[in-house]
Amino acid sequence: MDPAADSQPVGLRVATDELRPVVERLAQLERHDLSEFRGYTPDDRGVYAFRKLPLFFTEPGHRAYLIYHGRTLAGFTLTHPRPDGANSVFAFFIVRALRRKGIGQQAAQGLLQLLPGRWAIAFQEENSGAARFWRQVATAVVGPAWQEERLPPASPAAAGLPADTWLLLDTTP
Ligand SMILES: CC(C)(COP(=O)(O)OP(=O)(O)OC[C@H]1O[C@@H](n2cnc3c(N)ncnc32)[C@H](O)[C@@H]1OP(=O)(O)O)[C@@H](O)C(=O)NCCC(=O)NCCS
Repeated sequence: MDPAADSQPVGLRVATDELRPVVERLAQLERHDLSEFRGYTPDDRGVYAFRKLPLFFTEPGHRAYLIYHGRTLAGFTLTHPRPDGANSVFAFFIVRALRRKGIGQQAAQGLLQLLPGRWAIAFQEENSGAARFWRQVATAVVGPAWQEERLPPASPAAAGLPADTWLLLDTTP
């Protein structure tokens, strides 16, 4: 980790309605990053679709957080409850200039401990950085007590894409 990055705290802030435009702008950057693996393309206005984003500001149990490194906006994350009661990470993003400094790891560990209980986290193996990242986060939080499974993408829009990997862990103290 970059020693300079280490000196600033990493924090999560609930994105209220007034911060929704900030999340929407960062979400465009996240969609562009994932487009490499998922084939997303922008519409005629140059905007990537993010159909479910509004749900994170309206639906019970859905949460949007901004991630800060000190006072600097570093990223965002979206979580929601699955039908089986586990919390799921729907999106997790750190801006490129601040990557590989341990900021994502600190934020993810903080998130998993902020909402103690069962978690299910999906990623694509093709996104090899994310795959290594989430396995490292899971081990940091619960040691070896996590499992993984491969499931086809749930969204009809993702039909035909490779199976997702899901990490399953429980952060109940
Ligand atoms: C994945 C992502 C959140 C990682 O954030 P980050 O702040 O750079 O991650 P960290 O610096 O905390 O990395 C912790 C560890 O994860 C692994 N890791 C993170 N990014 C990696 C990469 N690009 N390649 C390989 N390993 C990576 C490494 O083991 C790293 O430890 P190290 O730097 O000591 O080797 C960030 O790259 C991102 O926002 N990517 C685009 C969106 C995305 O793919 N989100 C996840 C979708 S499920």
